[in-house]
Amino acid sequence: MNILLLGSGGRESALAWKMSQSALLDKLYIAPGNGGTQQYGTNVALSPLDFDAIKAWVKENDIDMIVVGNEDPLVKGIYDYFENDDILVVGPSKAGAALEGSKDFAKQFMVKNNIPTARYRSFTAETIEEGFKFLEELKAPYVLKADGLAAGKGVLILDTIEEARESLREMLSGMFGASSATVVIEEFLSGIECSVFVLSDGNGGYRVLPVAKDYKRIGEGDTGLNTGGMGAVSPVPFADEVFMEKVRTRIIEPTINGLINDNITYRGFIFLGLINVENEPMVIEYNVRMGDPETEAVMLRIDSDLVKLMKAAAEGNLGDTELKEDPRTAVTIMMVSGGYPGDYEKGKVITGLEKVTDSIMFHAGTKADGDNIVTAGGRVIAASSYGKDMNEALQHSYDSIALVDFEGKYFRRDIGNDLRKY
Ligand code: AMP
Ligand code: GLY
Repeated sequence: MNILLLGSGGRESALAWKMSQSALLDKLYIAPGNGGTQQYGTNVALSPLDFDAIKAWVKENDIDMIVVGNEDPLVKGIYDYFENDDILVVGPSKAGAALEGSKDFAKQFMVKNNIPTARYRSFTAETIEEGFKFLEELKAPYVLKADGLAAGKGVLILDTIEEARESLREMLSGMFGASSATVVIEEFLSGIECSVFVLSDGNGGYRVLPVAKDYKRIGEGDTGLNTGGMGAVSPVPFADEVFMEKVRTRIIEPTINGLINDNITYRGFIFLGLINVENEPMVIEYNVRMGDPETEAVMLRIDSDLVKLMKAAAEGNLGDTELKEDPRTAVTIMMVSGGYPGDYEKGKVITGLEKVTDSIMFHAGTKADGDNIVTAGGRVIAASSYGKDMNEALQHSYDSIALVDFEGKYFRRDIGNDLRKY
C-alpha cells in the first residue's frame, strides 16, 4: 500500500524507519519530513494542517493510508475530514483528539470513567475568585494547566500560593492565548513517570506497545527548563507485570470502553502519561499520538509489522494481529542545538553521520542544504541504540554521538540514571 506520514520530527523519522521495513508497503511519503526522512521514503512539501492540499495530493498519488504523527491535525479534525473518502486515517476523530486538545475534557472523561487521576477543578476569568479559594484547599506545589494546546508549555508548577494566584491570573488573561481561557488546577502528584502507548481499533480491540520513560528537562538530574524531550529508555523496570495489570484494568480498558460509550471513534495511538504513586498508576495526561522521543526507542522494540498493525487498527479490527516485543533494551539520546529550549541558531553543518555504525540516527530538526545536512530546529538528531541492557544501549548512543558534530551540540549524559534503583 501507499502511505502518507504527516510530520517532521524524530518521531516521524522513527515511524518512517519502522514502516519502511513492512512487507505491505509500496510507497512511503513524508510530509513535510526532514533532512533524514528521505532514507525511508519521499519527502513531500505539504503542510500537515492544509487538509484541502493533502486531499488533492493523496488522490493524485493513490494513497491508501494517512498516518498522523503530531497532534495538531488530529485536534483540528483530519480524521473527520477524510471520513467519507476511501482512505484510511490512523488517528482519533476530532472528538477523540479532545483528550489532548482539552485538558478539562480529559479530566471530565477520567472522572466519569473512574480512571485514577489527580483531583482537579477548572476555572475561567468569571470564576477566578473560586480558583483562588480552590488553591487554598490544596497543598504546595500547585499545578496549573492551560486547557488547550500550548506546544508543551501550558503546564506550570508553582511552589507558593502567591505565585500560583499570580499565574492563574496571567493564564486567564491570555498568557497562552485562547488555550488558557480555561485553566485546570490540580493536586500535585509525587512519583516517577512513564509513557504507555496503546493502539486502539475503536471497537474494543487494542495492543499495548513497549513502555518507555522520557526525560523532559534540559539539564542533567532533571533540572532546568522543560523541553520536547531529551532522551528515552524502553523497557521501564518499574512497569512490571503487576503494575501493567493495574494499568490495563484501571486505565486502558476504562479509557477504551469510555470512548465507545460516548460514541467517540478512536482508531489510532493513545498515549497515557502515567505517574507511579507508590506502585499505583495514575494518569497525568492523555496525548492522542505517539511520544517524541519515546517513539525513537519504542519502534526499536517492536518485532512485528507496524504497517499491518496500523492498517488493522484504522480498519477497525485489530483481530489477532500480532504485536511482538523485542526483548532487548532500546534507548535514544537527543542531540540539541546550543541554547535550546530558549533561542538557538540554525543552519549549522552536521558532520560525521556517515561514521556511525552502532546506532540508528533519527533526524529531527535537520534539513538538506545542497550536499550538507544542517540543523533546522532545537532537537536535531536522536541517537537510538539497542543493548542487552540499558548500559550497553546507552554506551552505543554515546559512542555514536561522539562521532557526530555541529556547532553548539548539547545532550544529556544521565539518561536512565533514575531507573537504576529498580
Ligand atoms: P504535560 O505538559 O501535561 O506533559 O505536563 C508536563 C509535566 O508536568 C508532566 O510530565 C509532569 O511531570 C508534570 N505534571 C503535570 N501534572 C502534574 C501533577 N498533577 N502532579 C505532578 N506533576 C505534574
Ligand atoms: N515526550 C512527551 C511527548 O511527546 O509529549
